[in-house]
Amino acid sequence: MKLRTIKDVDLKGKTTIVRVDYNVPMEGSIITDDTRIRESIPTINYLLGNGAKVILMSHLGRPKNGPEDDLRLNPVADKLSQIIGKPVIKVDDCVGPEVEHAVKALQSGQILMLENTRFHKEEEANDPEFAKKLASYADIFVSDGFGTVHRAHASTEGIAHHIPAYAGLLVEKEINALSPLLGTVEHPFVVLLGGAKIDTKIGVIKTYIKKANTILLGGGLANTFVYARGFDVGESLCEKDKMELAQELMIEAQENNCKLVTPGGAIVADEIGDDVITADMEITGVEGNMQMLDIGEKSTDKYIEILKGAKTIIWNGPVGLYEKEPFEKGTKRIAQALAKVEGKTYLGGGDTLDALKKFNIDPKSFTHVSTGGGAMLEFLEGIALPGIKVLEA
Ligand code: 3PG
Repeated sequence: MKLRTIKDVDLKGKTTIVRVDYNVPMEGSIITDDTRIRESIPTINYLLGNGAKVILMSHLGRPKNGPEDDLRLNPVADKLSQIIGKPVIKVDDCVGPEVEHAVKALQSGQILMLENTRFHKEEEANDPEFAKKLASYADIFVSDGFGTVHRAHASTEGIAHHIPAYAGLLVEKEINALSPLLGTVEHPFVVLLGGAKIDTKIGVIKTYIKKANTILLGGGLANTFVYARGFDVGESLCEKDKMELAQELMIEAQENNCKLVTPGGAIVADEIGDDVITADMEITGVEGNMQMLDIGEKSTDKYIEILKGAKTIIWNGPVGLYEKEPFEKGTKRIAQALAKVEGKTYLGGGDTLDALKKFNIDPKSFTHVSTGGGAMLEFLEGIALPGIKVLEA
């Protein structure tokens, strides 16, 4: 896949509008993981260093109906300013008179950040007039929010129909790093999938059933498969309506000689909390009020053994409720083990990144840590992503 990138264009004196993915995890106004902001710095510095003006746009969260104060990008602008060591001018909307005024006043070397694009419903509707408005502020569109390239929104796709569009350095890096996984990779090839829900993972399971030797499942996702195997899951997070789908996937895996592994044991508790009574038990013993909230110790050992023997590994999604101490162990031990394996390791997903941070694991220990969650998974499914299609050379 060949993309037009910002290295292909003369930037001097140009105004660039850059789609970044600053949809960062927050607790109140505190950003708990700034990876996505840090990863956007090379592109911003490249643009500024080559004489361009930089306008940044992003979404944050999923506002329902117009502006929501706790989803404003002010803390993100402050954080960016702190990291990049330059002032960041922040406006309170992403279109309208205040933006027009700020764009007119913008000088070479300056950074302007627009407000959360999802405060306007036209963003997600990919409204052409809205996209045109955003485009009117700049000469060039730079797509650098890899985490959002699977969305056909005005700021990720629509805008590219109005001004020339180029990939930023992060999008280029992600595509270069992940593309080899679409071709032939070294075996044993193991995919570890966790997280709450089956929906976002169906495509990737279907794709890798045909390519991987083993798919290891954890998290709420695994519970649905455990249930589909006929076990009682008690009160565990489980999508019972997806039982047939899970059964189909298990049959498909068998037909393709791919081992689809669910945990044989779980850390269970009757309630979720930081200080609750837990038990490590076989899946066969789960019943009543019990909730499976992490994979059991023996299953963790087994998963780690399989991962150690792999030459290529993809990991997306924690295997337990890692945010709570009693249920963090499976995810923590697996992350620590993966940081040391010899095989190539490709990680992604907001929670996976957050877990690495929580457990103080250096992202540099892995072959590639993607800033994308859904975007990484859809890319790996081989889907032509709308935000990438518009950048193809
Ligand atoms: C993400 O966090 O995966 C991206 O920012 C996309 O967010 P969305 O799922 O709300 O579109």
